[in-house]
Parts: sequence; structure tokens; C-alpha cells
Amino acid sequence: MDVKEKIKQIENQIEDTIKDIKSSQTLQEIKLKFLGKSGEISSLMKNMRDVPPEERPSMGKLLNALRQWTEEQFNKLESGLKSIELEKRYANEKIDVTMPGLDLPDGAYHPTTLVTKELINIFLGMGFEIFEGPEIENDYYNFTALNTPKDHPARDMQDTFYLSENLLLRTQTSSGQIRVMENKKPPIKILSPGKVYRSDDDATHSPMFSQMEMLVVDKGLTLCDLQGMLDEFVKRIFGRGVKTRLRPSYFPFTEPSVEVDVSCFECGGSGCRLCKGTGWIEVGGAGMVNRRVLEGCGINPDEYTGFAFGLGIERIAMLKYGINNMKLLFEGDTRFLKQFKG
Ligand code: PHE
Repeated sequence: MDVKEKIKQIENQIEDTIKDIKSSQTLQEIKLKFLGKSGEISSLMKNMRDVPPEERPSMGKLLNALRQWTEEQFNKLESGLKSIELEKRYANEKIDVTMPGLDLPDGAYHPTTLVTKELINIFLGMGFEIFEGPEIENDYYNFTALNTPKDHPARDMQDTFYLSENLLLRTQTSSGQIRVMENKKPPIKILSPGKVYRSDDDATHSPMFSQMEMLVVDKGLTLCDLQGMLDEFVKRIFGRGVKTRLRPSYFPFTEPSVEVDVSCFECGGSGCRLCKGTGWIEVGGAGMVNRRVLEGCGINPDEYTGFAFGLGIERIAMLKYGINNMKLLFEGDTRFLKQFKG
């Protein structure tokens, strides 16, 4: 075929295809087909070899003109397509700054935290100071100094996680009593909240739980002072109508020792499921600080007496909010947690 004809044909072909190009991506492909290294125009140029020398200059001109014209066609189309595509992108990515923001759910205090804060507030109001002891404790503070030497049967009351012969995860915040009394002379009025650990796991026990310890040491304190303080505390946390009862018990570090019960705030004492029909609910252990414990801390038991009280915070939270499984307090399920606001 004559080169001129071929040129005409290519021009027609380009005009035809160009009409249907809708995206810059197809445009690139078509461009390659004509202008690429092995495209139609380039192969025409390669054929110049077969053209007689005298015709070459004019032929070369024609082909160059074709190449230039083709490039112009594509460039025009390209800038048109690009601006259309850009506009489309802008439209897609348009942000309406007047739209309302994402509605993030409000956080809420965990029920254990709510109760802890409430307990702390009550005792701070009574003039207590807060002391926080270590969770990794040595045998001395957790047991021996609390009148529970090695081989004392009362060690069995608490299934202990030992870390070594001498180190353990504290089983009770009572260890804080010793740390305070060693360093502070009476009068002492200390509140010690914190995590404790016991190898125990069921619906009402967890291997890690929270306790709150209360210790008062001064001249002339008696069990009546303990009872009076507990009465007031219980009324503030469970309600004015709730009464306190002390039941004889045993702890190595208190003498006498008592179990602290409150009249059932659910049924008022007549007996229900919460109090298992007894009318009373146990909330903690307490007693007069054993004189051997005071002596061990360098406090003269003939001059000073003290009382201590310890409670399980999760247990109070369960009672207060009617939670029947302790696991709920540790699982972090938001369906449960979002029911508490505070
Ligand atoms: N530490 C005891 C316990 O964990 C509770 C307690 C505290 C008892 C203070 C008496 C005085 O069971």
C-alpha cells in the first residue's frame, strides 16, 4: 500500500477510536498502539528504508507531520479527560464539614471502681489517710508479722501464690497494717485499698480481687469504737436502716476477732435469697489488733490499742448492685459494664 494512503488510513483510524475513549487509562493504551516503540507510526518510519532515496525527505516530512498531529490529538483528549476525572474525584471525596461527628459512647466507671471510690470517700470523711502497700509482698508482712508464723494452721485460710520461699502475692491488705505501724507512731488512722491474690476460683471467688483495710491505733480504743465506726460506715454505704452485727471469729492478728454482718438491705432482715434466708449478710472481718502484732511493730500494747477491719470490694459491689457472678466484674463485657454510670 502506498505510504500516503497508509497515513490517511491511520488518521481515520485515530479519529474513529478517539471518539470512544472515556478514560485516561484506555487513552494510554491506544496511545501506545500508535505512538509506542512498536506502534503503527513507528513501524511506518522503519519502512522508510524501502522508500527510494529521492522520496525520503518528503516522505519523512509527511510522517513527522502525522506523528505531530497524532500527539496533538491525544494530548487534547488527555487534558480533557484528566480534568473530568479530577472533578469526579473531588465530588467523590467531598467532605461535608457540617455533618454531625461520630457518636462515641461515653465511658463509665467500672462497678468495682465505683464502690472503691465510694468507700474511700466515706473513710476520708472520717479522717482516714490512704496507704497503698506493694502487691508483691514478703512472707514477713503478709503472715509472720501478722502473728501467723510458718506452720501456723491459719495460713491454710488463704491459698497463697508463692513466688519464692520468701516472696508471695499478698493474700490480704492486712500486710499494710504492719508497714504503716512500723513507720508511724500512733495515733494512726489508715485506709488501705488494693488488689490481693488467692488461689481460689468460682462464682464468688476470683484469684485476684480487691480488699480495703482499715486500721486505727490510739489510746483507749475498745471494741465499742470499732462497732460504732462500722455502724456508721455500713449506714453510709448501704442505707440508714441497715444494722450491724459482730459475730465471734478468728484471725491470728486480731484478738478478739469478729465477722461483720449487716442486716439484709434487700428484705430488711426477714430473710430472702440475697441473705440466704438468714436476714444477715457478711461483709468483712475485723477485731482488736492483737497485742503481739503491736509489740512486733514497736508499739506498746499497754499504752495503745487498735482495731482493724477488712472487706472484699467486689463482694460489696455484688451486694450493692445485685451482681450474682463475680466473673462479670473481671470479664470487661461492655454489655454489662455500660449499665453502670457514675
Ligand atoms: N485480712 C482478713 C482477710 O483477708 C480480714 C481482716 C482484716 C480481719 C482486718 C481482721 C482485721 O480475711
